[in-house]
Amino acid sequence: MCGIVGYIGFRSAKDVILRSLKRLEYRGYDSAGVAIVNDGLNVEKKKGYIDSLKVDFDGTLGIGHTRWATHGVPDDKNAHPFLDCGGNIAIVHNGIIENYISLKEELVKKGHKFISDTDSEVVAHLIEEYYRGDFKDAFFRAISRLKGSFAIAAVHRSERKIMAVKHESPLVIGLGDHENFLASDIPAFLEYTKRVIVLKDGEICELTDDFVHVYDFEGNPVSKEVQHIKWSIEDAEKSGYEHFMLKEIFEQPRAVDDTLHALFSRNDLNLDFDRITIVACGTSYHAGLVGKYVIEELLRVPVEVYYASEYRYRPRVVDNALTILITQSGETADTIAAARRDKSSGNITLAITNVVGSSITNYVDKVLYTNAGPEIGVAATKTFTAQLVTLYYFAIESARHRGIISSTTYENLMSSLRKVPHNIENMLVMATQIMKEAEKIRKSKNMFFIGRGLNYPIALEGALKMKEISYIHAEGYPAGELKHGPLALIENNVPVVALIPPDRTYEKILSNVKEVSARDAYVIGISSKDEVSRYVDTLIKVPEGDPFFSPFVNVVVLQLLAYYTAKFLGREIDKPRNLAKSVTVE
Ligand code: F6R
Repeated sequence: MCGIVGYIGFRSAKDVILRSLKRLEYRGYDSAGVAIVNDGLNVEKKKGYIDSLKVDFDGTLGIGHTRWATHGVPDDKNAHPFLDCGGNIAIVHNGIIENYISLKEELVKKGHKFISDTDSEVVAHLIEEYYRGDFKDAFFRAISRLKGSFAIAAVHRSERKIMAVKHESPLVIGLGDHENFLASDIPAFLEYTKRVIVLKDGEICELTDDFVHVYDFEGNPVSKEVQHIKWSIEDAEKSGYEHFMLKEIFEQPRAVDDTLHALFSRNDLNLDFDRITIVACGTSYHAGLVGKYVIEELLRVPVEVYYASEYRYRPRVVDNALTILITQSGETADTIAAARRDKSSGNITLAITNVVGSSITNYVDKVLYTNAGPEIGVAATKTFTAQLVTLYYFAIESARHRGIISSTTYENLMSSLRKVPHNIENMLVMATQIMKEAEKIRKSKNMFFIGRGLNYPIALEGALKMKEISYIHAEGYPAGELKHGPLALIENNVPVVALIPPDRTYEKILSNVKEVSARDAYVIGISSKDEVSRYVDTLIKVPEGDPFFSPFVNVVVLQLLAYYTAKFLGREIDKPRNLAKSVTVE
């Protein structure tokens, strides 16, 4: 997704903007650009990486952008910032201007000349059209004409300020002394300030060296709370790990522990519902599927899980449901649309997200934050286990409130939940063995991941991790389904990763393992039971414990397997091709 930054103050704007853009690289991008105001207005923008920009000008006021193409191919002319015809105004934009075609036609008729194929360029021309010597006024007028989702920052060569707006795309402000910052995400400016204002949809912001004023679209002042960020830039850096993904895999004991501790202080989870709908995308959807098993097991309440992109277009058929929206970024467009729809039709809506003040929090009744810390690698890892622990906690607490489980069962479940960080730690020491397995499978063209019950979604997640970062075709399957089709694809040496916890599915999944072994698959078994080694080519032994909590350790094995496989293949692990960290388009 696109990333926006802005700076006004006393430092080199070039340095601040380029450093801040680098910190937004995780969002994925295909071109980058910078505009700096000094005696004039200078722009450098290019297809490719930030390092390829040749910025041979500087100043103390400017904006920057990383672009993830939506309208118009990734090339130099479609890169941001965009200028107006007079070269006085520069803008950067994240999101989609839905009515750009009609606006463009109107502006072209008035004589404006466009150079790009993007939707964003209209914003610069629209501000120019309304400019009568007052940049702020022109910005307000231009914004009132836009439809769609947008976070925009704009500068004018003859006024020392940045104007910005947030509407359904992220934008945060960093407050300094005689300097101020803006960005799509906090890590962009965290090395300069920890004082942050999170903008809400429909807010316009004026930044000067010495003040930040926030207004609604009508121009009324809005008073904003200043938040103090507790995590440091080191939390958002690699700290000696080769990739963010590896660092984030190893941070899981802490991420789960921090998430649990924050949950312990919540006493507002006694919600009234007859059934639950969980809506999410990608890895968060897999967390939702695990949540279904856990909630149905403990609460005996029906749970349906949907991809947000499907759910939002379904007719509404369920009343008195609780809708749980899971999204690590809090910015996924389809998940937000589902939240808005269900809230407006009367369902209780609960978001589980990792990003404080992210867009989804504006559209739900309740928010449960996962406290995983910033996740930079595009492939979700620690946010996934933090989502899982949140869903387990929610299910266990709700079962207690409803009197469905005895206090002894409650204590036992909570005690197992508290042990999860320790169990993950014990799993992480197995990284070298997992690396050896990755070396064996790295030349494979196809792979299968199989599991049952709670571990079926973990098989799906293992396959997703493998395909997105190694580019090996991988499929996750409920183990009992193999013989209904996919077994035809099992031949000599095809890797099959089987999740075999000692639960009520144990014997059944061993039978499924025999089915694939008989067809010469290379079977990697993941289990706490030694005897599994008799049925598989390699056993990765996970710590013993209540199998109800096995998804936590099993998924860590699969994350590491995907990571090392991708590393052997020399892939761009933190920024897999075609993917982005937060998916703000539908
Ligand atoms: C995969 C991955 C994606 C996200 C999906 C939803 O590793 O990260 O599949 O899970 O794009 O993102 P969020 O959770 O931000 O809604």
